[in-house]
Amino acid sequence: MSDAAAWDERYASGGFAFGAKPNLYLEAQAARLRPGMRALAIGDGEGRNGVWLAERRLLVTSVDWSAAGLAKASALANARGVSIRTVVADLVGWDWPVGAFDLVAWIFVHLPPKDRAVVAARAVEALSPGGLLVLEGFTPAQEGRRSGGPRDSALLWSAALVREHFAGLELLECLEGTVLLDEGPKHQGHAEVVRALLRKA
Ligand SMILES: C[S@@+](CC[C@H](N)C(=O)[O-])C[C@H]1O[C@@H](n2cnc3c(N)ncnc32)[C@H](O)[C@@H]1O
Repeated sequence: MSDAAAWDERYASGGFAFGAKPNLYLEAQAARLRPGMRALAIGDGEGRNGVWLAERRLLVTSVDWSAAGLAKASALANARGVSIRTVVADLVGWDWPVGAFDLVAWIFVHLPPKDRAVVAARAVEALSPGGLLVLEGFTPAQEGRRSGGPRDSALLWSAALVREHFAGLELLECLEGTVLLDEGPKHQGHAEVVRALLRKA
């Protein structure tokens, strides 16, 4: 089974694996968001973040390799009276637009190191001047905790990796530590994460 098929299977059950409310760190950026901004939500899954951005009247593209996830994202958008553009694609092979987004939301997307480097480079290129990248991911300290995250430790984020992959962006904020997650059944309890906000010059 491919990884995309595994995510399709996970999303096939009812409900929202990570909840239907936005990620708290993304939500904390609300004051920086303006109607009409073009947002790219990568690995948007069932759409809680993309739909929240659309509710704030941003123009949202959600990309995920899970068709099942994005079908739920579209349904959630419909139910909330907004629309999002969905693209079913592997982020590694996707034909990324350049300079096309004012915001990239990279929330809990954990990729193998080679893929992470490719996707990070594409994400930086996809930002317009002044564009923001918001990222949250689990760190190695999460290993052993049951509040979420990948089993393969190579996929984990860290503040050091954020600095390395986004060296071309201005680091506005980078926090690594313990948070209390309450995001659907899959992200519950204390967790070890990095949260970063970066801006393209
Ligand atoms: C932990 S879920 C997070 C979903 C969403 N960002 C959220 O916070 O609710 C990770 C998501 O990344 C997607 N994903 C992982 N690797 C991917 C890839 N190479 N291309 C596209 N999507 C990918 C998965 O399908 C899944 O929906």
